[in-house]
Amino acid sequence: MTTDTTGTVARDGDSRPGGPADSPFIRACRRRPVPHTPVWFMRQAGRSLPEYREIRASVPMLESCRRPDLVTEITLQPVRRHGVDAAILFSDIVVPVAAAGIDLDIVPGTGPVVAEPIRTAADVERIRLITRDDVSYVDEAVRQLVVELGDTPLIGFAGAPFTLASYLVEGGPSRTHAKTKALMYGDPELWHALCARLAEVTSAFLRVQIEAGVSAVQLFDSWAGALSEADYRRFVLPHSTTVLSGLVDAGVPRIHFGVGTAELLGAMGEAGADVVGVDWRTPLDVATGRIGADKAVQGNLDPCVLLAPWPVVEAEVRRILEQGRAAPGHVFNLGHGVLPETDPEVLTRVVALVHELSSRRADQG
Ligand code: CP3
Repeated sequence: MTTDTTGTVARDGDSRPGGPADSPFIRACRRRPVPHTPVWFMRQAGRSLPEYREIRASVPMLESCRRPDLVTEITLQPVRRHGVDAAILFSDIVVPVAAAGIDLDIVPGTGPVVAEPIRTAADVERIRLITRDDVSYVDEAVRQLVVELGDTPLIGFAGAPFTLASYLVEGGPSRTHAKTKALMYGDPELWHALCARLAEVTSAFLRVQIEAGVSAVQLFDSWAGALSEADYRRFVLPHSTTVLSGLVDAGVPRIHFGVGTAELLGAMGEAGADVVGVDWRTPLDVATGRIGADKAVQGNLDPCVLLAPWPVVEAEVRRILEQGRAAPGHVFNLGHGVLPETDPEVLTRVVALVHELSSRRADQG
């Protein structure tokens, strides 16, 4: 075992030359020199790909997440097609919550919908703790994928307590998170009990993925940007810290991501991340100033830019690579997920462009 300056403990044998732990993606997460800036896309395994739509035409979303053969195929599709530097496990943030006993579904065009929302202490007790047996299909899919992917790293993920709590309390997607905030401000004790339980479920879910062989994990706190920094620190940070800092011994880089988090970037880094995800609202050099020079950044092309003519896309990719140089490590990504209407050809071109521009920079020293 070796410990690098981030405090991350590297697993023995993991950094053999050419293996996933020596890949540009993992090296950038650990702020080590890279042959080119690595790139992957949030929601790369999804609806912009015709080959994905074909598989999903006859299989509901949650069922597809529970079938290791389909998870493996869908996860590999964007790697084959775009040549991205990392795969992300095909699953959803509500998969472990469903495994914990909560009756929910993922409704096409809407998102997660919970049959009986969580609003009382008795409701919190309905969220059981999960073991590997509850999500054996994830364990199996990761093991299969690690073999198939060879040197390409696989990213595992989970939802952070706040974002999960929002779906559970609201009962579905919400623009204002009003019911969630009402519970948070109105009954802090119940709020903390709910988030503590969700942190346990999320931690167990990430442990299963790490033990099965993922090379990095990302904690999605997509809706954390709905909070002020003071409220984030009081109501959310302790629970996300339980998850991320609790994995310090696991030996894989931890990425912490949210949307609209300009004011929260410093706090999100403090939760125990090696990499902080940044959306398009904050330039990466400004973000680095807020996060600190001891963490890498990931981002931050506006997914809508991919719908514009190529010269616009190219100029934005150049700008982001340039601003990313201020960070001690940069993983190129979007500021949020790929939109379904995105032309997959554009994604492939972005991967090639990021590689070309960043390798040329290395040649020039
Ligand atoms: O990134 C990847 O390619 C891996 C797969 C992945 C999915 N969901 C598959 C999915 C990941 C990482 C997620 C995470 C997720 N799920 C988040 C955090 C990331 C983010 O986007 O902020 C959130 C908030 C969810 C909850 C959720 N699930 C939403 C909002 C939706 C979209 C609803 C819709 O149809 O517009 C889903 C469904 C979902 N999860 C789809 C996919 C591919 C679409 C299902 C379909 O094809 O109909």
